[in-house]
Amino acid sequence: MANLLVTSLLLLVNSLIIKWFFPQTTLVISIITFPLLALFLYLLFHSLFSSSSKTTLLPPSPSSIPILGNWHQVGNDLNHRLLASMSHTYGPVFLLKLGSKNLVVVSDPELATQVLHTQGVEFGSRPRNVVFDVFTGNGQDMVFTVYGDHWRKMRRIMTLPFFTNKVVNHYSEMWEEEMELVVDDLKRERSRGVVVRKRLQLMLYNIMYRMMFDQKFESVEDPLFIQATRLNSERSKLAQSFEYNYGDFIPLLRPFLRGYLNKCRDLQRTRLAFFNNHYVQQRRKMMAANGEKHKISCAIDHIIEAEMKGEISEENVLYIVENINVAAIETTLWSMEWAIAELVNHPQVQHKIRQEITNVLKGNPITESNLQELPYLQATLKETLRLHTPIPLLVPHMNLQEAKLGGFTIPKESKVVVNAWWLANNPKWWKNPQEFRPERFLEEECSTEAVAGGKVDFRYVPFGVGRRSCPGIILALPILGVVIGKLVSNFEMTTPPGMEKIDVSGKEGQFSLHIANHSTVVFNPILA
Ligand code: HEM
Repeated sequence: MANLLVTSLLLLVNSLIIKWFFPQTTLVISIITFPLLALFLYLLFHSLFSSSSKTTLLPPSPSSIPILGNWHQVGNDLNHRLLASMSHTYGPVFLLKLGSKNLVVVSDPELATQVLHTQGVEFGSRPRNVVFDVFTGNGQDMVFTVYGDHWRKMRRIMTLPFFTNKVVNHYSEMWEEEMELVVDDLKRERSRGVVVRKRLQLMLYNIMYRMMFDQKFESVEDPLFIQATRLNSERSKLAQSFEYNYGDFIPLLRPFLRGYLNKCRDLQRTRLAFFNNHYVQQRRKMMAANGEKHKISCAIDHIIEAEMKGEISEENVLYIVENINVAAIETTLWSMEWAIAELVNHPQVQHKIRQEITNVLKGNPITESNLQELPYLQATLKETLRLHTPIPLLVPHMNLQEAKLGGFTIPKESKVVVNAWWLANNPKWWKNPQEFRPERFLEEECSTEAVAGGKVDFRYVPFGVGRRSCPGIILALPILGVVIGKLVSNFEMTTPPGMEKIDVSGKEGQFSLHIANHSTVVFNPILA
């Protein structure tokens, strides 16, 4: 009814305007201009109407215009720094209208507690966009699926083979073996500097593929390694890009994304076929051949078993493999790259870690089980994740129903991001946050943990907290600790000759913050 009234009013206004300004206007021109003008005015009225009645309830927001919302003001690159600077103007929770979508930004520890913990169920879903629909088969995975039975089942099935202390104990020797191979390779590499990323990437792929499939890659030249890294990196580029936002924010423009989405579909098909043909099918054949006698020896055996019991589908199995490829490898690799770059720029930190290892371990090798005895090394890792939070806005959350936050109404199906980087880098809460200073976690921040059972400090949530928090923390922290400990105790890491500092500037994607230029580092062996 209201719409009818507004439309009739518009009709009247439109003919008056056209007659007033263009008395000689022909009927044809009137007919052509009318729908456009009417649509524009309707949207203008509609947005003024709705904002005036709801401003008291919705979180603060820059004034928006029809169709685009705030998109024209904020642009595509909605990174953690831009959103942190906007929080100065709009407060600890604010709303951006991006075309037809709502983005709610949370920049305060109290409100982060609400989203991640107190109202963890209400905000425990995930938004997807047109591209993520393709890459997750409309949510057949775990990371990007809505909060509900499917997510609960997938998380339970993935926990047993990936995310328990038993898994860590079982695999830690294998991790150490893969890390020793890196140390040996770097010792042979008598050069004026290496881009260590590639070698560490091979190590992480081997760690994860041995855990998943009991298989590894021979070298960085192994054709399967080249294929796996190429397919995963193309997937990352297509998913992380801001290029497709227009089709996501404005449904009318979606037809123009057809080419982009076809590219995503082709890649996804090839990628899932790669995981299936080279890895999953081989395990299936082995399981079938062994029959009753088959001994479960890697994660995918557990997952296939869950499929055979009818708990999940064949597609779900592949999406678990896809999730591990995406969530586990690059995040841990980015953290290693940041840590190494900061250690090169802070030789005194390297020196202190080395001394701690010598004093505590007295010549014994660093292992997962003795990491707890090395608080300064632990503090260095925490400081790396604080200053260079690899997923600075966490993975976006979503409220399936309308919800309340900080006294405001959050419209249903809003994308809700917690600015974890800003929580950990806001000078209001941290002393000189821009400084890389591991000592802070032994001095003024000595009780701050990445997660602390029960009591959580919501200023420091690099892995999230609560239902949708990162289950991989149980693997990521020890892997990071042992590899950095081994590198520091075996090498003095320096810049190449003539270079004073490593460039630690970052590059953001939709979900990531990684070092912009992969560092070239000289690894000078420390003679025993
Ligand atoms: C330094 C390395 C890592 C960082 C910084 C990291 C960070 C995160 C963050 C911030 C989230 C989202 C939390 C939220 O939305 O509240 C997440 C989710 C997730 N991570 Fe990690 N992660 C890392 C390593 C890993 C590893 C090694 C694995 C697996 C082996 C993993 C598996 C996952 C999964 C499956 C989820 C989705 C959880 C869900 O939606 O229920 N991550 N991670």
